[in-house]
Amino acid sequence: MAVNNLSIVLAERPTGDIIPGTTFNQKITPAPTSADIKDGEVLVEALYLSLDPAMRGWLNDVRSYVPPVQIGETMRGASVCRVLASKSKQATVGDYVCGFTGWTQYAVLREGAFEPSSNYPGLREPKDMLSVLGMTGLTAWVGMTKIGEPKAGETVVVSGAAGATGSIAGQIAKINGARVIGIAGNDEKCKWLVEELGFDVALNYKDADFKEKFKEATPKYIDVYFDNVGGDILNMCLARAKEHARFVMCGGISQYNSTNPEGPSNISRVITMRIKMQGFIVFDHIKDYGKARQELSQWISEGKIKKTEHILPGGLQVAEQGLVDLYKGSNTGKLLVEVKNPNETPSKL
Ligand SMILES: NC(=O)c1ccc[n+]([C@@H]2O[C@H](COP(=O)([O-])OP(=O)(O)OC[C@H]3O[C@@H](n4cnc5c(N)ncnc54)[C@H](OP(=O)(O)O)[C@@H]3O)[C@@H](O)[C@H]2O)c1
Repeated sequence: MAVNNLSIVLAERPTGDIIPGTTFNQKITPAPTSADIKDGEVLVEALYLSLDPAMRGWLNDVRSYVPPVQIGETMRGASVCRVLASKSKQATVGDYVCGFTGWTQYAVLREGAFEPSSNYPGLREPKDMLSVLGMTGLTAWVGMTKIGEPKAGETVVVSGAAGATGSIAGQIAKINGARVIGIAGNDEKCKWLVEELGFDVALNYKDADFKEKFKEATPKYIDVYFDNVGGDILNMCLARAKEHARFVMCGGISQYNSTNPEGPSNISRVITMRIKMQGFIVFDHIKDYGKARQELSQWISEGKIKKTEHILPGGLQVAEQGLVDLYKGSNTGKLLVEVKNPNETPSKL
């Protein structure tokens, strides 16, 4: 008898916030089987699904770096998966692979659309393929090492600092000898940044005196700003930029759900302070993934980088609410949905 395959599909485009029960629908279809795979393909079951702030942007019908998800289409997303059947030389049954399965339990992936575990040097746990050695770790590495280029003694500010990307970006700046200031949304996250990850200062942007504290923490102004949030915090960092500062434009989560996104009124500081402000998309840097993963793995094994994941149990049914909560700061470290516990018996399809 065919096994059911639960997928989450886009039902309607949100204008502001994602509305649980309205934006997405659950869809059940028969799962693919080993008879469905062709040469160069693998049949997989998802173990962890990555939840990413960019997902909100993929729902908008606008020109971007990827096409919008279509109404009725399975929501785009990356999973770490177990191989159930293989006609690829790159993976055998039981291997872990990472790929854009979408929000679905079972999928067929073609070579080129998945990365085998051999691409992840020093891999300890499958979830690392989505976190520190996955897209967010790579984003931190690309943004900080290729654009920010912090030097010893410089002042580096990271917003979204307790999240998946920011927490790694700040630690990379520390490895480079910089003085690192993290900005995060509650005191517990700030404590973690300083006491566990070794940030020099961490400030809660929801505190009433945040802006004064930020001024006090940046007496020599900012050399590198790694921006994950945009909005008011970006504007404030522009006002504190040193001459020739580098602004790494990674994300702008504070504006993703806004029906009326706002630009920074201090943008002219880019000119007066001769700031290099550069956006980037991690997928443009595939040729650097090997080097980046090698370095990240090395730093983890040396104890120079610590990471954490915030894992939501409950399968794909919880993904929608999990994504809504991501924009409210529910997570510390990388947010993942546990689609299936890796210790459970593999499915038979
Ligand atoms: N350019 C690229 O290629 C690329 C690739 C991956 C990710 N990104 C971007 O990198 C950023 C971080 O992504 P991530 O996957 O690592 O997510 P994340 O940081 O793990 O999670 C998002 C965090 O953003 C913070 N946040 C939410 N609303 C905010 C607001 N209004 N103001 C300030 N902070 C807010 C929340 O923490 P608090 O509790 O601190 O508010 C939340 O935990 C996002 O902007 C994302 O789009 C870019």
